[in-house]
Amino acid sequence: MSPAAANPAAARLVGGPRHALGEVASTQDELARLAAAGAPEGTVVTALHQTGGRGRRGRAWLDAPGDNLLFSILLRPALPAASTSALSLVAAVAVSEAVAAAGVAAGIRWPNDLLVGDRKLCGILAEAAADGAGRVESVRLGIGLNVNQAEFPPPIRALATSLRLVTGRAQDRERLLGEVLAALDRRYGEFLAVGFAPARAEWRQRSVTLGRWIRVGGLCDPVLVEDVDEVGALLARDGAGRAVRLTSGEPADAVPPARAGEGLSAPAAAGPDVPHAGPAPGR
Ligand code: BTN
Repeated sequence: MSPAAANPAAARLVGGPRHALGEVASTQDELARLAAAGAPEGTVVTALHQTGGRGRRGRAWLDAPGDNLLFSILLRPALPAASTSALSLVAAVAVSEAVAAAGVAAGIRWPNDLLVGDRKLCGILAEAAADGAGRVESVRLGIGLNVNQAEFPPPIRALATSLRLVTGRAQDRERLLGEVLAALDRRYGEFLAVGFAPARAEWRQRSVTLGRWIRVGGLCDPVLVEDVDEVGALLARDGAGRAVRLTSGEPADAVPPARAGEGLSAPAAAGPDVPHAGPAPGR
């Protein structure tokens, strides 16, 4: 284990002041309050349980109290808003690297879900605050990593997994948090220094989306995924060969057709808005 992993507080950019909370509505909201009060980059809020955990696209994020890692990290990248959209993909790479240290190979489903097989292990929610001129003031990276949860409630039972279920043994949550913060620190520092290219190369290696036909919310027809671009947008081609580009900021989830309509997070009241699967061309 690296020194930074052994001591999260020693991490250079990510893993600064830590607010370890018990039950909260959402670590994202707690961090938003701290950010508005001037908290420094790298501030981390962890919780044992969330009563109003949020996923992407308005979904709820469910957890069993005390079992998982639920945390939010404050970033203050001095970058134009357009350049920050790749951050959630960078984070997915970092978390995937950290769980590899626990012996688990997790693939990345665009833009930033971590899957083991076809079950979701980790979800990442990036929320940004901008100033009046459209400059990013802060990005809150919210990470929900299923660690020791052994059972999931019906809405996500068939969709979710945890490190414990995958490895057959309970994991040390604190040690894992240290590994994740260290990996995020390294990848975030690299992103600020040289941009998305190195993490993008690693994202491609770990992707379970590239080369697959998927359905994306808002698009009727499946598309064949070819790449992600320099800001993390999905580059694909539809059945007629037309190029399609989707940014990770768009309200879209990429779901292989055979599994369309799912996500780890429980659907919000309105239900999932990813269209259901039909046969994909070319498969
Ligand atoms: C997703 O839909 O896949 C993203 C899920 C993000 C969940 C995490 S848990 C910690 C943080 N607080 C929240 O309310 N959401 C994020």
